[in-house]
Amino acid sequence: MNSTDILKKYPENDSSVLIPILQDIQDNFGYLPEDELKKVSSFSKLPMSRIYGVATFYNQFRLQPLGKYVIRVCRGTACHVKGSFDLLQALEHELGIKAGQTTKDFNFTIETVACIGACSIAPVIAINDKFYGGLSVKSLRKILNQYRKSVEVEV
Ligand code: FES
Repeated sequence: MNSTDILKKYPENDSSVLIPILQDIQDNFGYLPEDELKKVSSFSKLPMSRIYGVATFYNQFRLQPLGKYVIRVCRGTACHVKGSFDLLQALEHELGIKAGQTTKDFNFTIETVACIGACSIAPVIAINDKFYGGLSVKSLRKILNQYRKSVEVEV
């Protein structure tokens, strides 16, 4: 579906539907591409500054695509007690980005999440849909290196 199809579902010139429109576009594209936001702007007769204002105010919206591998570091209590902050710091250091950011090559994104429901194997991270538990900084580095190698192989 492209954004023209998405916009057809909504009334024109109605600022009250801006958030659902942005949610639909993000569901479709994975983020909010600038070109699509321009279409929203002319459809809704809202200036781009207003649309960017909404898109940056709510942290559910992303203005950049996610990396190929999204690393979610659990920051729930059980994981925190078992050292998840050290894992997060090590990841940030290794990848040269902060939580919420994506590497320049779009291979990795780091996110923090509240309990991801696997407390018995804390501390836990998820890389896309795969869970890794009982981690230490050392074992995390090993796992990260495997993903890095797989990215290099594909290049
Ligand atoms: S606190 Fe991390 S999985 Fe529950």
